[in-house]
Amino acid sequence: MAIRKTNKLPRVFSGIQPSGSVHLGNYLGAIKGWIERQETKENFFCIVDLHAITNWQDPESLRHQTRSLAAVLFAAGLSPLKSTLFVQSHVSAHSEIAWILNCVTPIGWLERMTQYKDKIANEESVSTGILDYPVLMAGDILLYDTDEVPVGEDQKQHVELTRDIARRFNNIYGESFVIPEVVIPKVGARIMGLNDPLVKMSKSHEHIRGHAIALLEEPKEIERNIMRSVTDSGSEIRFSDEPEKAGVNNLLGIYGVIMKKNRSLVEKDFVDSSGYSGLKRRVAEIVIEELRPIRKAYYELMSDVSELDRLLAKGRDKAEQIASLKMQDVKTRVGFVKPH
Ligand code: TYM
Repeated sequence: MAIRKTNKLPRVFSGIQPSGSVHLGNYLGAIKGWIERQETKENFFCIVDLHAITNWQDPESLRHQTRSLAAVLFAAGLSPLKSTLFVQSHVSAHSEIAWILNCVTPIGWLERMTQYKDKIANEESVSTGILDYPVLMAGDILLYDTDEVPVGEDQKQHVELTRDIARRFNNIYGESFVIPEVVIPKVGARIMGLNDPLVKMSKSHEHIRGHAIALLEEPKEIERNIMRSVTDSGSEIRFSDEPEKAGVNNLLGIYGVIMKKNRSLVEKDFVDSSGYSGLKRRVAEIVIEELRPIRKAYYELMSDVSELDRLLAKGRDKAEQIASLKMQDVKTRVGFVKPH
């Protein structure tokens, strides 16, 4: 198996789509963990605009959302000194490697992906890009000899597929790719919709009132959405896998990730509470406090778009150096003639 040179920090790669608004699920399931661990890892974070266009995006909105997402990530604490943040389409190796990996990936592997099956079940016509989405994602990860991929639960299957694609390529062409490990947070890996706690909080439901909390939402709106969140008709505040307690379970999970407390400490904090309105009020308070500094820093960053673009260009230069070396190795292995 290809292994990166030792005595280096573990290399982390993860990505996020610039479609729709970043929500609390993205933040608690992925972004917060990336930021907290950036000191102890070598980090590559990617705004995956090539993935975003697998569903139609209004071009002007996509441009705005790409910069806006960069500003959210920096505002949330991603440091350009400790982490490399870049835009996927700025590094052409991502598209190139996807093609080569397509040619070693059996189509049946892609047809088995649950996200693909959900999409074809719910939409009349889907693009080839939707089917091919996980191969592009595999390319993202494999270009950087990634050791760890921190993601929410919904992306686990795609990282497992990445491992299979890497092994298959290595078997055919020799050991080029590092086999990455998926890293899923113990709590917060699956934040559920506030309007329906049996459905994952998702950008594709963000038009539904009260479903998600956008990271830049006003405190009043956050409070309203949490106070109106769906819970059961009981009053017991405890973690539970029972479907009827999914709403309370979700609120306790959100509380646990933000307060960095395990389940029993979380339950202790509510042992004297009666009814759910106290729980909701407390969760609203801590979510508002967690997001307040992010919103403030975001507007400052967005007031200087050229500085944002400069930071993204710096990230691109760093990413491109690594990706282009891997591309050369892959092309040689496959048998392409090196141009003069
Ligand atoms: P995306 O943009 O849908 O989501 C970004 C991250 O947020 C996590 N997430 C959640 N975590 C907990 N609860 C939720 N309700 C929730 N919703 C989303 C996702 O798991 C993800 O970690 N395919 C990826 C982007 C991608 C990528 C990559 C990730 C492209 N290339 C390479 C890792 C490595 C996606 O669409 O994420």
